[in-house]
Amino acid sequence: MEKKRVLVVGANGFTGRRILDDLSQDAGFHAIGCSLHADLCPGTGHGFVQADVTDEHSVRQLFDELHPDVVVNTAAQSATGYCEAHHEEARRINVDAVGVLAACCERHGAKLIHLSSDFVFGGDTDRPYTEDDTPRPLNYYGQTKLESERLVASTCTDYAIARVVVVYGCPLPGQHGNIVQLVANRLRNNECVRVADDQWRTPTFVDDVAQGVRLLIAQGGKGIYHICGDESLSIADLALRVADVLGLDRSLVLPVPTGEMGEDTPRPRFSSLSIGKARRELGYRPRSIDEGLRLTFGL
Ligand SMILES: NC(=O)c1ccc[n+]([C@@H]2O[C@H](COP(=O)([O-])OP(=O)(O)OC[C@H]3O[C@@H](n4cnc5c(N)ncnc54)[C@H](OP(=O)(O)O)[C@@H]3O)[C@@H](O)[C@H]2O)c1
Repeated sequence: MEKKRVLVVGANGFTGRRILDDLSQDAGFHAIGCSLHADLCPGTGHGFVQADVTDEHSVRQLFDELHPDVVVNTAAQSATGYCEAHHEEARRINVDAVGVLAACCERHGAKLIHLSSDFVFGGDTDRPYTEDDTPRPLNYYGQTKLESERLVASTCTDYAIARVVVVYGCPLPGQHGNIVQLVANRLRNNECVRVADDQWRTPTFVDDVAQGVRLLIAQGGKGIYHICGDESLSIADLALRVADVLGLDRSLVLPVPTGEMGEDTPRPRFSSLSIGKARRELGYRPRSIDEGLRLTFGL
């Protein structure tokens, strides 16, 4: 059987690299990474192309040369505060580049799997959002992610949107950290860490995003899917779980209301997502948070 050619865009990123590595280990796929900078971790298992996906000409060339069957788009500007202060830059990568990728996928008959975010929701609820709930982003980052979802849905015949939430795991050198690493580093140095006790999320172990993507390809999933953990907890509770798993001093975790965090960018109070659809239709089974944390820290 011929291998499926999968192009992972944003392959130097935290989630993109995990997806690339996961697909590279599967004999059914020929995985090719694409990122703005040179290959973060060159290996024999995958191909790699350095390209700027905000440059339409480069993207067209990429498709003409690679003829991907599936494109997984993980490239984004996802620093929420940065997006709030740099609208044009955020729009170029989070919206405009997605439009070009979507058009190229449609023209070449490729499936597009696009990563999105819980931040498309407004947070004014106490039950996990389903794929049928109405988005209402509170900040510019969320707005760009929602616009990108709509562009993909209106352009592509074969697409899946995977909404992920607070992705955690062990980053490679050169990748941005995540809340779990930040908390662990502070506690290991006997430093206090202030964390919001009134923002609820369903954190996602990075390997489970890779699992979700592989299932979306294998099962031919179409439309929107929530691909995250299935435990809803506050950021403060997540920090306490890190302390417990690592056997560190939990009194160093200081739960505070969002108002005391000194953040300018509004964030949803409650943006936990329900994974019922992914469980039912794809057979998606995420790790528990304790299991994900143990794997993150090699325990
Ligand atoms: N991380 C989370 O907690 C989280 C939560 C919810 C949703 N998401 C979504 O999940 C996806 C992945 O997030 P992430 O945090 O893993 O991303 P990330 O680590 O910030 O990686 C994104 C990658 O995109 C690449 N990139 C940026 N601009 C590019 C361009 N013009 N051309 C080609 N590549 C470009 C960068 O590559 P170089 O390194 O080569 O410059 C970067 O490594 C995003 O769609 C994000 O919105 C993430």
